[in-house]
Amino acid sequence: MVAERDVTRLAVLGATGSIGTNTLDVAARHPETFRVRAVAAGRDVEGLLAICQRYRPDRAALADEAAAARLRDRLAAEGLGDVEVSAGEAGVAALAADAEVDAVVTAVVGAAGLASSLAACEAGKTILLANKETLVVAGAAFMETARRSGARIVPVDSEHNAVFQGLPGDKATSPDVERILLTASGGPFRDRDPGTLAAITPEEAVAHPNWSMGQKISVDSATMMNKGLEVIEACHLFDLPPERVDVVIHRQSLVHALVGYRDGSYLAQVGSPDMRVPIAYAMGYPGRIASGVELIDLAAAGRLDFEAVDERRFPCLRLAYQALRAGGGACAVLNAANEVAVGAFLDRRLRFDRIAAVIEEALAAETPPPPGDLASAGAIDAQARRAAEAAVARTEG
Ligand SMILES: NC(=O)c1ccc[n+]([C@@H]2O[C@H](COP(=O)([O-])OP(=O)(O)OC[C@H]3O[C@@H](n4cnc5c(N)ncnc54)[C@H](OP(=O)(O)O)[C@@H]3O)[C@@H](O)[C@H]2O)c1
Repeated sequence: MVAERDVTRLAVLGATGSIGTNTLDVAARHPETFRVRAVAAGRDVEGLLAICQRYRPDRAALADEAAAARLRDRLAAEGLGDVEVSAGEAGVAALAADAEVDAVVTAVVGAAGLASSLAACEAGKTILLANKETLVVAGAAFMETARRSGARIVPVDSEHNAVFQGLPGDKATSPDVERILLTASGGPFRDRDPGTLAAITPEEAVAHPNWSMGQKISVDSATMMNKGLEVIEACHLFDLPPERVDVVIHRQSLVHALVGYRDGSYLAQVGSPDMRVPIAYAMGYPGRIASGVELIDLAAAGRLDFEAVDERRFPCLRLAYQALRAGGGACAVLNAANEVAVGAFLDRRLRFDRIAAVIEEALAAETPPPPGDLASAGAIDAQARRAAEAAVARTEG
């Protein structure tokens, strides 16, 4: 029998989403190693109920208070009344800081994930970091908190996970590392005539050629803002300046990132475009565990192509580098404006080719100082959202 201390007790935040369900899938393959102690989501009562039925956590939370009350009733009706349910953003953050949780998977989508990521960080947990907005919005404060609390951060995002695997002792600050290279598939519109981008529908934008992901990140992949957010993430995670983080188009999405060394070597991580690969690496780190994904048949894959990014086609990537260089709270502004613009596009209130213009307008305002805590991050976020909503309204009009 495995002693309780050999079991890693997980909190999966964003459990009903794409990363959350993939994490639960990997955990289910290793019941002797992982126990799901806590699960959280936004408002999906039935989705979280089904997860509670299957994984039997001790605690659950929904950010939406009314949904949390419904979940409590549904759990009681299904004979699971002993699952402790908490509500609201604070309820989700409480699971991240739970004394009986060892590792927190931060897979909440958007800036809404910030509070729980910071709570896990302050509590010194092992953080399997998927929520990229945490680093984009409050990267400096988050990394500083981790240094202070001793929280260990293992990136789940496939590119950063690939860099993490290719680094010497996880340290990009080694003088041996010259640069890192993040790959991008180029999304569904990499070959589309730029003159036709105005007519793109949400259905087309969320149909990614290689990856199956949540809606918001799929649109971000189509605009390549996703890669811009990843460049910002990488600079914080690996303590690198923007000029040492490059992006290259790689259509097959088999090489996820490369670490370039001063002797002229690149170390690349190669694997299926299936998030269970980086999730399993993060869960098993420093060891390796089965993910349920097979090794790629390289002969069948045939080719690995690499191309430069056409910045005219993907202005969002340029805007991300611009925000990084501007410093202060510019990346938080970029993130909030992007969330508003993508939301408006998904609601059919904004044309696809106007997403970058809305973000650019929000960035044109005076750059706020870097957020030092959740409250200042919230204030920057709210101000940028108002600016972006106004820009959307002007565009619509
Ligand atoms: N999907 C990928 O392949 C991938 C890869 C790398 C990084 N990421 C990052 O991982 C994060 C999650 O992405 P995803 O694709 O898994 O998103 P997703 O499929 O849209 O799922 C989002 C999850 O967040 C939950 N949620 C929403 N608002 C919440 C709130 N206020 N409090 C707590 N939970 C909330 C949702 O719950 P409901 O179901 O109740 O709404 C759902 O469980 C994002 O930051 C994304 O950028 C994703």
